[in-house]
Amino acid sequence: MPDPLHDAFDSESFRALGHGVVDLLADYLAGATRGDGPVLPWKDPAAQLEDWPVATGEPLEQLLPRWLAASNHLHHPGYLGHQVTAPLPLAALGTFAAALLNGATAVYEMGPANTAMEQNLVHWLAAKLGFGADADGILTSGGSLGNLTALLAARQAKAGYDVWSEGQAGGAPLAMLVGEQAHYSVARALQVMGMGRPGLVKVPADERYKTRPEALHDARRRAEADGRKVIGVAVNACCTATGSFDPLGPIADFCEAHGLWLHVDGAHGAAAALSPKYRHLIEGIDRADAVVWDAHKMLMMPALCTAVLFRDGRRGYEAFAQEASYLLHRHDPRDEWYNLCGRTFECTKTPMALPLYLALSVYGEELFADYVTSRFDLGRRFGAMLAAEPDFELPVPPECNIVCFRYVPPKQGDLDALQVQIRQRIIASGAFHLVQTRLATGIHLRVTIISPFTTDGHLQDLIEAVRVTARPA
Ligand SMILES: Cc1ncc(COP(=O)(O)O)c(C=O)c1O
Repeated sequence: MPDPLHDAFDSESFRALGHGVVDLLADYLAGATRGDGPVLPWKDPAAQLEDWPVATGEPLEQLLPRWLAASNHLHHPGYLGHQVTAPLPLAALGTFAAALLNGATAVYEMGPANTAMEQNLVHWLAAKLGFGADADGILTSGGSLGNLTALLAARQAKAGYDVWSEGQAGGAPLAMLVGEQAHYSVARALQVMGMGRPGLVKVPADERYKTRPEALHDARRRAEADGRKVIGVAVNACCTATGSFDPLGPIADFCEAHGLWLHVDGAHGAAAALSPKYRHLIEGIDRADAVVWDAHKMLMMPALCTAVLFRDGRRGYEAFAQEASYLLHRHDPRDEWYNLCGRTFECTKTPMALPLYLALSVYGEELFADYVTSRFDLGRRFGAMLAAEPDFELPVPPECNIVCFRYVPPKQGDLDALQVQIRQRIIASGAFHLVQTRLATGIHLRVTIISPFTTDGHLQDLIEAVRVTARPA
């Protein structure tokens, strides 16, 4: 009697399939890290849809290679695009193992080892930031959700009334002072929280795109003149567009002087904590009330894995000050630290600790320190290369592995349109993947040097590719 359902779970078929898939991926990895093929085989989205009809019966041996070929290749040395890293192969295996067990980490009984790994990892990361023994936190699904989680805790701690229970109408309207270069997810979080547009008061940045601490006074005055109670300050380590690190020390001084919450979005740059050479970029981060740190950016983890770290771990229980009695049984939520859904937005949560836990266990912290240091070093060297070229402009000297620049040929036309065109053509060529961003001085090309395989030589090639691409056809 055929039994397709049980056959699909057959362990020997799984063994054979698994070996086949790993062989395929190992070959893929060898090619991608060598720089074989296009980084991104660009195809129009509508045409892409046509390539992926559902439930066609296409055999795995054909489907998976086709999917690999059609994907963006983050291990490729020419991948310089968005801030999503080339995952460590071991970490990918961790995700694979975790997916088979599906031990979701909302309640302890579903993922007991995962929960313990997560908590110990969170404490380890918090200690790296310089937080003390009271620190605590959780892992969650991405920096955007991390910012929302931390800002909810900020509001509950500083509003002066129980916003969670009473809603925003229970007291004075609230405001957060936000560095103008903050990632859009900060504004999104505040608006999801019902604080509206006036609830976000922008703090201007200087010419290096760093939040100006002296501008905080004026921002606070503006919010108060508008009848709002300021609850805190949200700044960047580092900002998305240019990779500039805000001066956390003076900003922390301001927060302490005025009793305000300090939120540091370290989604990308908190990883500097692991690099003895670049640790100074985040000096003062240990004075933050909460820090968001994405492991899928600068810790070589598959997406998604974000740590939300609270200097005073009790604050983490206030983000979602809600009872779900069928999951949580006792009175003080801290008694149930091990039922993580009390502190995360997710109910069912991917078991996301295993990949990072495995990698730290097998390779040690040094591998991460080397990765961060070597990528930041290369970003700075690329900045120096560009500065030496008369036909390239740097808006700011790079501090880390995010570098913005634009091509300024001797005969200038519409520079913004030129950068857009260069980017489109370079992506279409398959040689590199890079992005663009609008800064005060116009549209710039932007790279994040995040693949461990990108070298000075590749970046020199990029400079040449930009020149060649910009020439009229
Ligand atoms: C500074 C910063 N914060 C938050 C985010 C959002 O993170 P995620 O994409 O994991 O939601 C990003 C993404 O690039 C970022 O650069």
